[in-house]
Amino acid sequence: MEEAKKVYVGMSADIIHPGHLNIIHEAQKLGRVIVGVLTDAAIASYKRLPYLNYEQRSLIVSNIKGVDEVIPQTSLDYVPNLELIRPDFVVHGDDWKEGVQKSTRQRVIDTIAEWGGKVIDIPYTKGISSTQLNVKLKEIGTTPEIRLKRLRRLIAAKPIVRICESHSGLTGLIIENTQVEVNGLKREFDGMWSSSLTDSTSKGKPDIEAVDLTTRLHDLNDALECTTKPIIFDGDTGGKTEHFIFTVRTLERLGVSAVIIEDKIGLKKNSLFGTEAVQEQDSIEGFCNKIKAGKNAQITDDFMIIARIESFIAGKGLEDAMERALAYIEAGADGIMIHSKDKSGEDIKSFCRQLREVNKNVPIVVVPTTYNHIKEDELVQWGVNVVIYANHMLRSAYPAMVNTAVSILTHGRSYEANDLCMPIKQILELIPGTK
Ligand code: SPV
Ligand code: MG
Repeated sequence: MEEAKKVYVGMSADIIHPGHLNIIHEAQKLGRVIVGVLTDAAIASYKRLPYLNYEQRSLIVSNIKGVDEVIPQTSLDYVPNLELIRPDFVVHGDDWKEGVQKSTRQRVIDTIAEWGGKVIDIPYTKGISSTQLNVKLKEIGTTPEIRLKRLRRLIAAKPIVRICESHSGLTGLIIENTQVEVNGLKREFDGMWSSSLTDSTSKGKPDIEAVDLTTRLHDLNDALECTTKPIIFDGDTGGKTEHFIFTVRTLERLGVSAVIIEDKIGLKKNSLFGTEAVQEQDSIEGFCNKIKAGKNAQITDDFMIIARIESFIAGKGLEDAMERALAYIEAGADGIMIHSKDKSGEDIKSFCRQLREVNKNVPIVVVPTTYNHIKEDELVQWGVNVVIYANHMLRSAYPAMVNTAVSILTHGRSYEANDLCMPIKQILELIPGTK
């Protein structure tokens, strides 16, 4: 008996719709259908992380009628799987003849031509669009559990996770929705940083833990209501260990993914003062106990407690920072944030390199406020997993508002400030559901 022809179909399969079923149906007519389900990392390399994880998506696909086998496709590039399977046909929706996917299609054609394989383009199913479904899904929102888990998934799937500060519902919406396209690839922020500096500043208060947790969480709720992306909470020093236990549980219940606490005690001042402000670093033992107490208090396995090392801020060196990093990891920290106000970034670079020599996996978080000439690609080379743009929404909003205030005062009317302001029509349409 002649062996069945092999048919390969690659798909993300996050939101399955009749268009996908049609492709599988057509593929089935040609032979034995092997579906390569793109892994989280493969999808995250060119667009947002899927709603469902790889295990969930491959389970769904393997239960679709007409699918004979499911395998992971670990890159956007089909070639590794094609060489493994040597299919007679590759079936895809004909939408990939245009746009960014065009070159992917050509590589597939060239590769399978080597063994006489053919690409079959199936007419795109009209009236159904994953993009539209995505918009609707965003309107539905998310649950605390899904949001909480998302940060770990992002860290596992992406070379670097990109986080931006948010201190209000409005800044949350900017981070949720702002998208750019660079070299045909979509780029957006992966989540939000709830910064003690910008939370305090927007209330006209100093960044010294004077704005209490209840107030900060009350305001964070505005962003939780209108966004779906994960949140990393700036927990300052974590306060007293006995209090930190409650903070962890509260954050977890809200669906916050991680808290970062810094190894300082007493009256905390903002780190960017460096040694200009009197600040005391905690003992290694004291801080390890706080980490352990927090880890014991959390209920899920997913919540992350990230230890922030202030050695460089306090004027100490690499040796002290490394000693602390290893101790904090041993105490159960789920990640290390290393901070510095040095403009070169050299201290952060040598720390990351050294930590990576002894620990390949612990997530490293950096906040390049002063060494902001370093690009994300370079941070990846250092071994960084998460980059936080810690204060930029507030810092850019403030001068814009001051300029408008000055213009109105100077001219005795707001006419000259027109160009500094968004049009009324735009602000009316900014928030979904306003009309
Ligand atoms: C914050 O954003 O509040 C931070 C980062 O903790 S820094 O301001 O650099 O200390
Ligand atoms: Mg802070």
